[in-house]
Amino acid sequence: MILSGNEFKKRQLGVAVVGSGRMGSHRARLASLHPAVSYLVVGDINEDQARKLAEVSKANGYSTDNFELINDPRVDVVIVSTPEDQHRDSVEAAIMAGKSVLVEKPLALTIDDGDRLSKLAQEKGVDLRIGYSQRFLQKYFVAHDEISKGKLGPILGGMTRVYNTRTNMLEILKRCPEATPILDIITYNVDYIGWCLGPDVSPVEVQAMGHGTIFRDQGFDVDDISLTMVKYSTGAVFSFDICYALPGGFPTTGQSVRLEVMGRDGVILIDDDHRDQIMYSEHGYSNAYAPDQKLNLAFLGSRSSGEWADGIMFGRIADETKEWLDSQSTGAKCHLTTAKEARQTLAVTLAMAEASETGQPVPLANI
Ligand SMILES: NC(=O)c1ccc[n+]([C@@H]2O[C@H](COP(=O)([O-])OP(=O)(O)OC[C@H]3O[C@@H](n4cnc5c(N)ncnc54)[C@H](O)[C@@H]3O)[C@@H](O)[C@H]2O)c1
Repeated sequence: MILSGNEFKKRQLGVAVVGSGRMGSHRARLASLHPAVSYLVVGDINEDQARKLAEVSKANGYSTDNFELINDPRVDVVIVSTPEDQHRDSVEAAIMAGKSVLVEKPLALTIDDGDRLSKLAQEKGVDLRIGYSQRFLQKYFVAHDEISKGKLGPILGGMTRVYNTRTNMLEILKRCPEATPILDIITYNVDYIGWCLGPDVSPVEVQAMGHGTIFRDQGFDVDDISLTMVKYSTGAVFSFDICYALPGGFPTTGQSVRLEVMGRDGVILIDDDHRDQIMYSEHGYSNAYAPDQKLNLAFLGSRSSGEWADGIMFGRIADETKEWLDSQSTGAKCHLTTAKEARQTLAVTLAMAEASETGQPVPLANI
């Protein structure tokens, strides 16, 4: 029996990836494997980097001119995978061209830029999404779904904490000195808890303390450890703690996370430390963030973005990129962070940085 009216709507997509580093490479290779993508161009300020990625991803072309890529008439959607302080101009150009955008987190590093981009996207009716890819790990996505169905009852609060090595943090700071552990990493957990609490709940106050000598000795004015707390409009309280200064030989090569949510009727405990998958090898395991580093003992699966194995990518960037392309092609529901959500998360992390510096609570009225 043929059912009339049931038609699959699948738009073919032209994709531009701006920034051909770690994330841009994942995104472009994934786009080239996606059945709805029929045209792909990649770019970077470093021509060599763009050319290499074009070859690996079998792209139709490459450029060092971001605006040429974004305004290419065969391009329908744009992925911006440049460093944290280089998002604004490409996102703005894509919005002005009326093309949907996926930009890496955080949306911006200042509230002025965050406001400007989220307002512009709203004015122009452009779908702007931010790659808070932690949402797309199965354990977090399913927990969010259970919380949304009310299984925990009203949320009382909880804790999140994330560890990584100083080796990885120094690579991030070299890429962008303003990308501090709070603005660049805790931001994932602030996004996730905000997503779980829902659109009607807002953060109202932030407190924080920090301490650090390791990164300061390397010339970066950044704390090694930050302990922060947020109170929400329902009264729920969450702590968001981070130490990205573990010794370089510690076996994680990405985020090691604990996340716990308490409700009146239930609790969710997520162990994302990766201690369930250990490899030891005399030949070493590569740290994607610092490819020259070879670890003998490694938590397999700890690479935050995910893992390529024999031509297939597993993990959060794979699932996130696929869902974004699926939704662009079919119009299916998209679970990526909206510009409004990302702007609120940015305000919380900036308040955490301020509270840590001043030692005073920071109210978040009218954010
Ligand atoms: N979701 C995740 O799991 C995840 C993981 C890592 C990084 N990120 C985010 O992805 C972004 C990029 O991080 P990365 O690790 O890929 O960095 P990277 O340094 O590996 O790559 C960035 C690339 O952008 C290029 N570039 C710099 N300025 C540019 C410009 N103005 N125009 C075009 N190209 C430019 C650089 O030459 C480099 O090749 C950051 O926002 C970061 O926070 C997300």
